[in-house]
Amino acid sequence: MDYRDKSLLLVIFGITGDLAQRKLLPALYHLQQKGDLPPQTRIVGVSRRQTSVDQVFHPVQAALDGNHFDQRVFDQVKTLTEIVTMDLSSVEAYQSLRHRLRDISDEIGPGVSRLYYLSIPAEAFVSVVNQLGATGHNEPFATDIDQPRLLVEKPFGHNTASAKELVMVTEKNFGEQQTFRIDHYLAKETAQNILTFRFQNPLFQSIWNTRHIDAITIAAHETIGIEGRVAFYEQTGALRDILQSHLLQLLALVTMEAPAQLDSTSIHRAKLRLLDSIEPIGPEEVNTTAVRGQYDTYRDEVNNQHSRTETFARLKLRIDNEQWRNVAITLETGKALSEKLTEVAVHFRPTGQASGSNVLLFRLQPKEGITLLLQAKQPGLQNDTDIVEMDFDYKRSFGSTSEAYERVIIDAIRGDQSLFASSAEVLSSWRIVENVITTWAQSTKDLQKYPVGTDAKNL
Ligand code: BG6
Repeated sequence: MDYRDKSLLLVIFGITGDLAQRKLLPALYHLQQKGDLPPQTRIVGVSRRQTSVDQVFHPVQAALDGNHFDQRVFDQVKTLTEIVTMDLSSVEAYQSLRHRLRDISDEIGPGVSRLYYLSIPAEAFVSVVNQLGATGHNEPFATDIDQPRLLVEKPFGHNTASAKELVMVTEKNFGEQQTFRIDHYLAKETAQNILTFRFQNPLFQSIWNTRHIDAITIAAHETIGIEGRVAFYEQTGALRDILQSHLLQLLALVTMEAPAQLDSTSIHRAKLRLLDSIEPIGPEEVNTTAVRGQYDTYRDEVNNQHSRTETFARLKLRIDNEQWRNVAITLETGKALSEKLTEVAVHFRPTGQASGSNVLLFRLQPKEGITLLLQAKQPGLQNDTDIVEMDFDYKRSFGSTSEAYERVIIDAIRGDQSLFASSAEVLSSWRIVENVITTWAQSTKDLQKYPVGTDAKNL
């Protein structure tokens, strides 16, 4: 069944929050603009504070404003939306929300797919999911075509123990099949292309191992700082915010074995096998394999002169299997760096007379595409070589790409979990970084300070 033949009832908890405003509402606008939302769509924004549709959408419009801004489409999305103000601890509030959702379902049904998108502070998560379960939000209405689905934002917990609790709570109330753990990096076009590139191009398959590859580096550099998300970032830091989730997921895509099929179950199985084979960093290794830094204006920004939250993190990892033994794996991420860049670099071992190595780059942003760096002879009488690029650029080849959150919403309506993180993957990822978290929390050593705009190479 085409997902557009379903009706969509999207319930957004935390509609005034940073993520809904920066990613989700713009994605809904773009989907509407392209005609990719189901014709019968309704959005219910849940907020603890009294607010209005106009107030919620005002900053979104400011961010979207530009050459291609379409006021008519924007107003359509606003018309599809209503706000429910509720006290998240009140059972009656969940019950009356449920009544309202049932009325909307009756209006737009049959064939309704109901999604609950939770973009709420980590400390509210357990209680909200339990309340949703206790008041029957996890049960389908007569007009529904699917079981209601829960979409949750990372970080999923802040260590193994808390992640286990979240898994238990979601499992109890919604079940694994109904829980969609968003990792929006997986929905970026280049990330989606990693498996296709690896498994549909025989050229690379036989050299995708330690005999031919000596290093893999995955970097997510941002120029922005924490953009006012003080409470969230102080508790989270770069390791939890990006490395433990986005970067380990990318590493799994780059290094996992071929899945039996390109379907959700087989992909998750292969990804988990790979994550499980990454050696956790031992407590005694943390000082030599992990780097943490903090940009120099961070403490003023969070108004805490003693903050030891890292805004830069780098880890060196090892994969303990035949295919990847002795390949140096580096993951790094940071804010307030010199450039915005997310990229996976696969370094091939130099062989024979080669003067340098070949590098394959998966560029997730800003210029999405895939580049192969090769050695070539320079023109002229000498035999000097230089590095040249073979370049695939999405914009040039396909005209445009879609934003990750657009794909996230559509896949959740479809019920396709391929681009989401499973609970087992989340737990395996915490296991890998657990000792780094505890060692950093206990260490009295100060972090490496860096000026805003630093090149990550200097850290
Ligand atoms: C989010 C992090 O997951 O990813 C943010 O919480 C970060 O801190 C963002 O800024 C980066 O996403 P993107 O798509 O801009 O690379």
